[in-house]
Amino acid sequence: MKIEGIDYSKCIDCGKCVKVCPQLLYCELEKDMKEKFVFEDPYQLCVRCGHCIAICPPEAILYKNAGEVYTFDGTKKLEEIVSYDELMKILRMRRSIRVFKDKPVPKEKIEKVLETMRYAPSASNRQNWRYTIITNKDEIEYLKKENMKFFRNARRALPFRHLITPFLPYGARRRVLNPKVKMQLERGIERIKQGEDIIFFDAPCVILLYSRKYASSLAANDAGIALTHGMLAAQSLGLGTCWIGLAQRKLMNNRRLSKHFKVPKGFTVFGVMTLGIPAVQYLRGPPRRSLRVQWFE
Ligand SMILES: Cc1cc2nc3c(=O)[nH]c(=O)nc-3n(C[C@H](O)[C@H](O)[C@H](O)COP(=O)(O)O)c2cc1C
Repeated sequence: MKIEGIDYSKCIDCGKCVKVCPQLLYCELEKDMKEKFVFEDPYQLCVRCGHCIAICPPEAILYKNAGEVYTFDGTKKLEEIVSYDELMKILRMRRSIRVFKDKPVPKEKIEKVLETMRYAPSASNRQNWRYTIITNKDEIEYLKKENMKFFRNARRALPFRHLITPFLPYGARRRVLNPKVKMQLERGIERIKQGEDIIFFDAPCVILLYSRKYASSLAANDAGIALTHGMLAAQSLGLGTCWIGLAQRKLMNNRRLSKHFKVPKGFTVFGVMTLGIPAVQYLRGPPRRSLRVQWFE
């Protein structure tokens, strides 16, 4: 998208574009000038956030190469659609699902979930997400098997764990040194032997989200928000999801595998999410920690 300026035949001189532009590219001119406001971007600093388009009452912002602009029929305020209490209920009822029915997810529903991810916020409105959707059983099986290698490799490496722990972050170090980790790995290997899918839980659909790395960790943050949109949307469609960090790590660090799933060179997998029809119904939410907050008032 490119902002090209202001259509002065429509502009009502309200100055809202000046107020919302994060890059300060709109400015007010001297009093005796013909136009009151101007858009200037000689160094192409516009981040294409689209806020000027979204705020302008007479739709006077000129732009090209943009996606569709949508208006909210019948309401201008989110709180008129969903109250805090209702939203809280939705957020608290979302669950990670690890038991799925042996049924495919209709493609229209997958598309609906993906559609909601488009509306996630992203740093500088980059929207750099790309997706691979895997519904082919053999491909999910292949990805699962590649991930299951983790359990055997980890068990093999266990006797040497003291050599690597100094290089691990604190949380991972504690986990690796925990004496129960061996038992947990053995249990995982046993379940795999019995044919259990302890990676994707027999989900009929796996979604990979990848993007280019930018501004240190911001690409990962953007991925998290997009997938959260998808998780909530999925639940509103009667579907269940689970973020699979284990598979994400594997795809992040294994170019051969990410290449197999057509992740382009220079792109990193920042999220892996299963999608399926839940075969369980939760009766309550799992406990959550109380807030740990510091206030500077
Ligand atoms: C970044 C991230 C990675 C996760 N990785 C896994 C995973 O590899 N396997 C798994 O079964 N669940 C995974 N989960 C799901 C969490 O275990 C789950 O969100 C948490 O237990 C809270 O449960 P809830 O989502 O139902 O509220 C992951 C969740 C997040 C946000």
